[in-house]
Amino acid sequence: AVEEIASRENTVSVGPLKLEVDGKKRVFDINDPKLPDWIDKKAIGSGGYPYDDKMPVKEYEETLRRLQIELVKLISWMQTTGTRVMALFEGRDAAGKGGTIKVMHEYINPRTAHNVALTKPTETERGQWYYQRYVAHFPSAGEFVTFDRSWYNRAGVEPVMGFCTPKQHEHFLEDTPRFERQIVGDDIRFFKFWLNIGQEMQLKRFHERRHSPLTNWKFSPMDVEGMTRWDAYTEARDQMIDRTHTEHAPWTIVRANDKRRARLEVMRHILLSLPYDDRDLEAVGKRDEKLVGEGPKFLK
Ligand code: ADP
Ligand code: AMP
Ligand code: MLT
Repeated sequence: AVEEIASRENTVSVGPLKLEVDGKKRVFDINDPKLPDWIDKKAIGSGGYPYDDKMPVKEYEETLRRLQIELVKLISWMQTTGTRVMALFEGRDAAGKGGTIKVMHEYINPRTAHNVALTKPTETERGQWYYQRYVAHFPSAGEFVTFDRSWYNRAGVEPVMGFCTPKQHEHFLEDTPRFERQIVGDDIRFFKFWLNIGQEMQLKRFHERRHSPLTNWKFSPMDVEGMTRWDAYTEARDQMIDRTHTEHAPWTIVRANDKRRARLEVMRHILLSLPYDDRDLEAVGKRDEKLVGEGPKFLK
């Protein structure tokens, strides 16, 4: 299967896919520009999403601006105190990790903040300690670092696609809480976000990606695999969150069918967690408990 996928790189040709969605057998032809009704109608509510509409754009933009101002204050506090902050983002393909990270970095000096989005490991990296290439990007005093995907590849894409052995997967689940204890033990303020989307929402976003001239380059063979292996990814996610949700490094789950609300909740969570100077709690606002929660219980 791995060779087959590799040979399709750059030319994602995909015929109608047989999928099981919501307990029903479906055929989905992603090349058809018309999105089927059974996806369109269910997308926003899929996976138990509690709203039937996106947040209105005006409310989103105003709230985002207030949170971005708070984030700028947070960064200057980090600089004066030397505080290091690190946030990793996980979620299925098209969960909205990239967009969330982008709005957080919009008004922050790239000298004090950066995003890490590593590609698949090279031969040299495969010979190293598994976490090594990630550790190389950890923050120094005053820095804010985001990870768009992370070492958690070894609990998701790698076992699901067969890029690691079951033994490596098991070792990862065993080792990671200890690895992360060292991160927080060294006083890095550490956040782990799982952006959760429903199955129909994923299909809808892949369809948009496929048919937009601006984003069709993003449509990858891995996305096709993501569609057909929904259940394998669910199982991998549940196992990952069960085994790596700890008191020292908890998972924050964010329901993300509406990208706007998801972005705001992520920023708000970080702002509410750090005691930066001049924090305006009214501007930060209250967490939406229907959308954000901690650990495995929240997904059940
Ligand atoms: P993205 O989600 O960033 O658009 P892909 O969907 O192509 O990228 O890949 C998802 C993740 O799987 C990436 O983090 C990538 O590094 C990882 N990945 C892809 N191929 C391999 C591989 N052969 N071995 C290990 N990891 C891989
Ligand atoms: P599946 O979609 O579940 O049939 O799995 C696809 C590929 O991923 C197969 O080659 C499996 O061997 C591999 N795989 C599935 N689960 C795991 C796992 N937990 N650890 C390692 N490889 C796995
Ligand atoms: C996301 O949208 O979650 C990612 O950043 C992009 C992707 O899925 O490839």
